[in-house]
Amino acid sequence: MAGRISQGFIDELLTRVDIVDIVDARVPLTRAGGGEFKARCPFHDEKTPSFTVSQRKQFYHCFGCGAHGTAIGFLMQYSHMDFPEAVENLAALAGVEVQREGGGRGALGAGGDGAAVKERQNLYDAIDEAGKFFRGMLRKHPQAGEAIDYLKGRGLSGRTVTHFGIGYAPDGYDNLRDALGDTEEKKQRLVTAGLLKKNEWGKVYDRFRRRVMFPIVDHRGRVVAFGGRVIGDGEPKYLNSPETAVFSKGAELYGLYRARSQGALQKSRRCLVVEGYMDVVSLAEHGIHNAVATLGTATTDRHLARLFRVVDEVVFCFDGDRAGRAAAWKALQVCLPLLKDAQSASFLLLDEGDDPDTLVRKAGAGEMQKRIAAAKPLPEFLLQHLRESVDMNQLDGPARLAELARPLVARMGQEVLQQVVSDRLAALAGLSPAEMARSLGIGRRPLQRAGAETVSPGAGTAHPDSGMAPAGATLVESAISMLVQQPALAQLVPADADLRAAGTPGAELLAELVEALRARPDLGTAALVERYRGTANFAHLEKSASRNHLLPDLAPEFRGILKKMLKTWPRRREIDRLVAKSSADGLSPTEKERLKNLMKAASEDKAAANA
Ligand code: CTP
Ligand code: MN
Repeated sequence: MAGRISQGFIDELLTRVDIVDIVDARVPLTRAGGGEFKARCPFHDEKTPSFTVSQRKQFYHCFGCGAHGTAIGFLMQYSHMDFPEAVENLAALAGVEVQREGGGRGALGAGGDGAAVKERQNLYDAIDEAGKFFRGMLRKHPQAGEAIDYLKGRGLSGRTVTHFGIGYAPDGYDNLRDALGDTEEKKQRLVTAGLLKKNEWGKVYDRFRRRVMFPIVDHRGRVVAFGGRVIGDGEPKYLNSPETAVFSKGAELYGLYRARSQGALQKSRRCLVVEGYMDVVSLAEHGIHNAVATLGTATTDRHLARLFRVVDEVVFCFDGDRAGRAAAWKALQVCLPLLKDAQSASFLLLDEGDDPDTLVRKAGAGEMQKRIAAAKPLPEFLLQHLRESVDMNQLDGPARLAELARPLVARMGQEVLQQVVSDRLAALAGLSPAEMARSLGIGRRPLQRAGAETVSPGAGTAHPDSGMAPAGATLVESAISMLVQQPALAQLVPADADLRAAGTPGAELLAELVEALRARPDLGTAALVERYRGTANFAHLEKSASRNHLLPDLAPEFRGILKKMLKTWPRRREIDRLVAKSSADGLSPTEKERLKNLMKAASEDKAAANA
């Protein structure tokens, strides 16, 4: 097993390759001046170019759809590579070998020796060929009429059928076998792919017979499996390819590749997760393209990690029956640790007997969109579920509620979410917020620190593209944002400055960035951001990096912010300490005087900033 790719290697790699070459090879760029290049955005549909690549920052950003990232990010988003593939690819381009921790060498390709890689490719090719075969059968097999009638009967147009590559497996045991299994080797490969089966006498025959065939495409656009629906009645209603070397149900989502490559997910920033193939296809028929389906399994963390890379919100849309409700609750639990900063999940349970397919056909896309917009946010759904499981009229109701909620709250990856849920539970149980937080075992911090200095609008932040964090951002957020865009600013931080003095996570991150840049002054924006891939701060830093500034030099503003922070932080800490002491065991006259002066100084500064 090869080790992790070393961070130093990625730093180095990103200084060697040029994102302009990487993008230009795939999306031709034109010069926009100031070291910037532009093109029509490959991630959404547009007439005038709003996709820009900055050579200095080694970063791309689309003002239209918000897509952004480094050269690694671009290969992941545009060419659908995963992280190691993108790094391998750039390394090959730079003519260097990937270095892994522990000194191991990474093999090019999906790991393993050349023969295994080749056989894997053969498997992809065989499955792809089968897809073509099924599509061909839908056009020209003598019995294809039954499949066409079936699809028409379900309200699908030829356009949608083509769009999803839907095909037809005719009745009989030898259609696919005889068409594509003309050698032993090929037959064996189709068995491995799960398209042919072998009986006890070693005879092979078609797995899919008399079914409408839905090709399942992986995250890189390769057909890796099929779902086959029986035409009319019959058992089983759906037959799927088995798990193979190239297909894992827990990783793939039906319709994801298509929704992403069309830009539907990037455009709406939201993805609908439904239960069935037909739901996805039928929604698309009605113009709703941002839906994907799990493949007859529960939603997994791998599914969600994949989705949250592209969208900020996932809406689970399940049947209203018991199974649907159970699936939704399960999905909620998978979501809890995964949800980061600006991400959210919501739940839409349909009426018993409905699924998205029947609903959209009956009520139309407008009604469907309305329901999606009204889906229950995760905290709501969670509380409703808990409320239904506890009898609050019982004496031990509140305690039971906290007991059920505790493991759920503990799993939450988002502090804000913990607090929201905790506060709502408190109200429900008739406890104070602090009591509930205590019994859930979470620490409480006020969401907005009272008196936290923000950069006042007008003080150099007039333009949204000025390169500063948005107006209202705290000083530390602005400092981080500027630093990411112009890493050289780190050299302005005095060596003895205590950037951690505020004691907030933001201050910690700022201090860390400055330290990293002191150790490696050659790190650019892209390399700096890449160091945080896979951490809670990555999305935030990426966003900061994609902000564009009009000011060529942020040094004066950065210095100003730095000065302000270093002046106000110790003061604020002292105020906090004195205030706490005053309510706990009182202040001495000198301390009272001190607090008064500190508060006065703070409010004077504030008035001056707002003037
Ligand atoms: N499924 C499956 N095997 C089955 C039944 C269902 O794998 N025997 C999976 C399929 O992925 C299917 C999904 O579960 O798309 C939802 O199944 P269900 O709700 O029963 O079917 P519908 O999608 O409503 O199918 P249809 O509308 O074609 O009747
Ligand atoms: Mn259905």
